Amino acid sequence: MSWNVSDKQLNALVAEMTVEEKVAAVSGHGLWRTAANYRLNIPELLMTDGTYGVRYSIDQIDGMQDGDGQLAAFLGVVNTDLSTGVESAFGSTRPATCFPNGSSLACSWDVGLAYDLGQALAAECQAFGVNILLGPGINIRRTPLAGRSYEYYSEDPVLSGEIAAAVINGLQQNGVGASLKHFACNNSEVQRTTMSSVVDERALREIYLAGFERAIRKGNPWTVMSSYNRLNDVQAAENHWLLTEVLRDEWGYDGVVVSDWHGIKDRPASINAGNDLDMPESGARKQDLIDAVKDGRVPMEALDRSCLRVLKLVRTARNAIRPNAEADFNKHHALSRRMAAESIVLLKNEMAILPLDAAKVGKIAVVGAAAAEPVIQGSGCATTRPTEVDIPLDEIRRLAPGATVSFHAVADFEAGSASEQSALAAIDAADVVLFFGNTEVGYDGEGSDRTHLDLHAGQDELIGRLGKRNGRIVVILFAPDAVAMPWIDSVQAVVAAFFGGQGVGKAIADVLFGRQNPCGKLTVTFPVQMEDIPGYLSYPGENGRHVYSEGLHVGYRHYDKRKLAPLFPFGFGLSYSTFEYSNIATSADRIDGSGTIRITFDITNTGSVAGKEIVQLYARPHSPRLMRPIRELKGFAMVELQPGETKRVEVTVESSDLRYYDPAYRQWLLDAGQIDFEIGASSRDIRLEKTVMVDAPALPSTILDVESQPFLVLERDFARRRFRDFLKAQLDLDDEEAAKMMEYCASSFLGIYKTVSWVAGEKISKATMAAFLDGLNKEIGRQSARQHDVMTAPFEADRTR
Ligand code: BGC
Repeated sequence: MSWNVSDKQLNALVAEMTVEEKVAAVSGHGLWRTAANYRLNIPELLMTDGTYGVRYSIDQIDGMQDGDGQLAAFLGVVNTDLSTGVESAFGSTRPATCFPNGSSLACSWDVGLAYDLGQALAAECQAFGVNILLGPGINIRRTPLAGRSYEYYSEDPVLSGEIAAAVINGLQQNGVGASLKHFACNNSEVQRTTMSSVVDERALREIYLAGFERAIRKGNPWTVMSSYNRLNDVQAAENHWLLTEVLRDEWGYDGVVVSDWHGIKDRPASINAGNDLDMPESGARKQDLIDAVKDGRVPMEALDRSCLRVLKLVRTARNAIRPNAEADFNKHHALSRRMAAESIVLLKNEMAILPLDAAKVGKIAVVGAAAAEPVIQGSGCATTRPTEVDIPLDEIRRLAPGATVSFHAVADFEAGSASEQSALAAIDAADVVLFFGNTEVGYDGEGSDRTHLDLHAGQDELIGRLGKRNGRIVVILFAPDAVAMPWIDSVQAVVAAFFGGQGVGKAIADVLFGRQNPCGKLTVTFPVQMEDIPGYLSYPGENGRHVYSEGLHVGYRHYDKRKLAPLFPFGFGLSYSTFEYSNIATSADRIDGSGTIRITFDITNTGSVAGKEIVQLYARPHSPRLMRPIRELKGFAMVELQPGETKRVEVTVESSDLRYYDPAYRQWLLDAGQIDFEIGASSRDIRLEKTVMVDAPALPSTILDVESQPFLVLERDFARRRFRDFLKAQLDLDDEEAAKMMEYCASSFLGIYKTVSWVAGEKISKATMAAFLDGLNKEIGRQSARQHDVMTAPFEADRTR
């Protein structure tokens, strides 16, 4: 079972292996295993999907392992058509708990709950003999259209990274490895194995990689899965910059990089880039690697390094196995209900139509097939065969035993149909209409993006129609991500359940009848219309390239900067209670490059029921050196309060989280100057703020080089003097000639080197000019630092007043 080998023994094993054996060790065996080596007594590992449930395919895992032959089986899963039901889609899959999907769970903003998810998934993996679960997936939800957005957490990297770290810790502290995926920029399913995500370095670092870095720093997953797409024109699984320079050299990651399934196109290139394990088994790719090692295209050290990493992973995983483990599926069903309940987001609640009073409501008209067949998950490799499913309609009937509950399909309202009149009569007579809406099942999932933000087949139109007929209409939504709501003004309440897993039916009923006070908040922005989505103009790319044209203004960063009103903003969610924010304080008035700062404030429940409030902390720099978003999430907390109760809440921010990446310096930098810490109930509802001073060495705003226009030098007095002296010395000029030359330079739009060469001939070499400008850069840096001290002095004076 376990595999007790020392590092020394592992090294000796690698030394003893033939090239073929090493290649086998860094390749899959069949679809879901690593290869055992019987000669050397190296055991195998078993891994399977997915991100919110364990999908254990009996055929694929317990059946024959005939390598390439299983491609069809694999594609069958990934291209799953859920419209015919999970069981018919999957055949022999073991039932396992289908927890709320990523886009649902994240709305809880609850890292404790995310840890519980990891722990429960680990227990089911242990019971099934699975060593590594292929999740969590944390690609940024750059567009709500993205086919896999239901698995991912947020448009924000801090939130994505925190939730992911908690899931990873829950898994790994219970003996099951995580696979943090998909690294990186797999933000759309359109041509997902060939499309190049073209992303500028700031956006990459500050948005797309930042969540991975955080999850790795706080969770240290046993494996990281490289993504299918190309990143800036290089296949992710073969991207040395991504997998070695950033992941290993900068972040210090020492686990295993595993490919996405059949994601590697050039196996020798992938191992040289740092992609250790190639999944699943491919005879052709193994042979390619053997050939490349033998003819020297892949150095033996690269193969040995990956081989050792895989063996270490096998050791870690084997020694974490809990023999005879059993999963408590009843307990997990209860957990899935609790998670769903904490993740539901109440988006609208006019005239306090919700919660419904079960004792008073007489007639309830329930509309929409999803009330009887809730859409609990998306479709793709993560799709889980649930152990049981709570049906919303049944739960509603259970909680309102005295009410008359009628149920109608959307088709019942078809104009001229036999059922139309009686269905409309039921709507007219109802005390409340509960409309269960959903996006098209099976169409929005892995392998294809949505092409619009509408609900399925006529639902949008019908909601508008019924809303006008009976003002008391509540819409409950099953959707992977944002949807448009052209009917929003005709309804009184909207409850977003996303894909809430097998317990969502009970959770919805509990919210509707006030047994659960809703507390979830959105982790993405809901746009009014598709055209408002950041990057809309360049989505989904063409000719194999998808330019992320919004740069780092992803999600709320875009809506804020463009002053665009969203349908619902990032961080938004209502409660049956109300909360008041007051008394903000910070642990210091200044923060420097290495410190942390604590922001504290009071939250009071001013409503009449107990509730939870998710509070968000945003940072807003006053005068950033480079383009920055208006505000960015830096922390969050959740507080639970009885009516009338006040609690002091604390959120800690590390100053390193206030940095931005400057590609010109190839560094993360901190701007000196004032910054606001804002406490918000959402990104558009800032309740408190406090200004603090950031101390950091100031940097020159421009870096001069030979192509810089001369005015950039001339605009600074001291630089002007240095330049004049430089020209005099290099060109042997007197004062008058130098002055003329400077005048000439002042009106030139060409680079400084070209300008001078044009007038004076090639007397000054490019290298000499570059060296001079370098000296100036340093001096400008020192000047700016002094200036920063002067600039902050009035603030100091302010504080002493
Ligand atoms: C998906 C991965 C998944 C793998 C194995 C791929 O198609 O992109 O997320 O883990 O298949 O099923």
